[in-house]
Order: sequence, then structure tokens, then C-alpha cells
Amino acid sequence: MEFMKLEFEYSDDVTVINEEQFNAHMRLYEGYINKMNEIDGLLARGGDLEEANATYSEFRGIKRGETYALNGVILHEYYFENIGSDNNEPDNDVLGCIERDFGSFENWQAHFVATAKASRGWVVFCYDPRSDMLRNISLDAHDYGNIALSVPILVIDMYEHAYFLQYADHKDEYINAFMNNIDWSVVRDRMEGSYVVIPVRWM
Ligand SMILES: [Fe+2]
Repeated sequence: MEFMKLEFEYSDDVTVINEEQFNAHMRLYEGYINKMNEIDGLLARGGDLEEANATYSEFRGIKRGETYALNGVILHEYYFENIGSDNNEPDNDVLGCIERDFGSFENWQAHFVATAKASRGWVVFCYDPRSDMLRNISLDAHDYGNIALSVPILVIDMYEHAYFLQYADHKDEYINAFMNNIDWSVVRDRMEGSYVVIPVRWM
């Protein structure tokens, strides 16, 4: 399949980042789209399978790029989709699930923010079916730290490229602005979907 970029438009509803930061970030996202098409093209042509080597080989480079670029595509699409709303309250169903696993919304929020401060790549608030728990996962790169089978529900990009143009080194301000601009209706849809696909629990 050919990767096509999804169209995300900047609007007044996006308060976590300004338009300049948004547009710069969007160009990076398009770069991952282009690289995935390039990588899939290389794989379709075959590649030098005989010379595959874990220390260095051209094929290793393609495989490393494949997971990096594909997670880069997926996580950026999730990020741009879950920002841009002043609907800043989770509904009772979402709240119930968070409270079951974190005790309170405030405790989840404190963990999410701390995980953001501690991460170099992403925070993925996800549902982990193996433990039947919601977790805040820390990624230091697009493809470093994910849990197999986990379903992403809310993501924040903590690469410096996501905020430095606007916030410089004021990482806390970026995180706070993000927390006030989450689209909780998107979170709800993802959470409900995760429990349908993996039918464990949906309140
Ligand atoms: Fe990014």
C-alpha cells in the first residue's frame, strides 16, 4: 500500500502549539510518510538478503528504518488527532477506567506529566491487555519502548522538535498546555475501541 499523509489543519482550537510550530512539525510527519513509501519500495524490490548482518548491513538499515518510520507515522497521526479541543473533561466512562487503574484522575495526570518529563520521545497512555491495565508508557524514540499488543489511547510528542521552536527549553509549559488541549472525545473513542477489539472491559 502507498502511504498518504492525513490532512491536519491548524485551527484556533489548537492551543498547545502555535501555527509555526504546527507547520514545522507537520513537515516532519510528511517526511516519515515519504520514508515509509521509500522503505516499502526497497523491501518490495527484495534487497540484499544474503548479506543481512546484525553489526552492519544495508538490510539491517532498512529494517531499523521500517519500525522507526512506521511508528513515526502512527504516533504523529495519533498526536495531531488527540489535540485541539477545549472539551477538557473526560466523561464518566473514561474517568471510571482511569480511576480503576490509577486510583484517581489526578493521580493518572501526575503520572502522565512525570512520564512526559522523563521521556525523550513519546508518552503513550495505552491499554495493555496482558495485564488488563491502562499504562503510561515512556518511549525514547518512535520504536524504543513500546509494549507489544498495547493499544494507544492518548499520546504526547516529547521530542524537542515538537515544542522547541515555540517553547525553547520550557518543557513544563508545553506539557501543561497539552494537558489543557486534549480532545477527550478522541480518547473516549480509542478507549472504547480498544476494549471492543480486545474484549476485556468497557464500563
Ligand atoms: Fe514529532
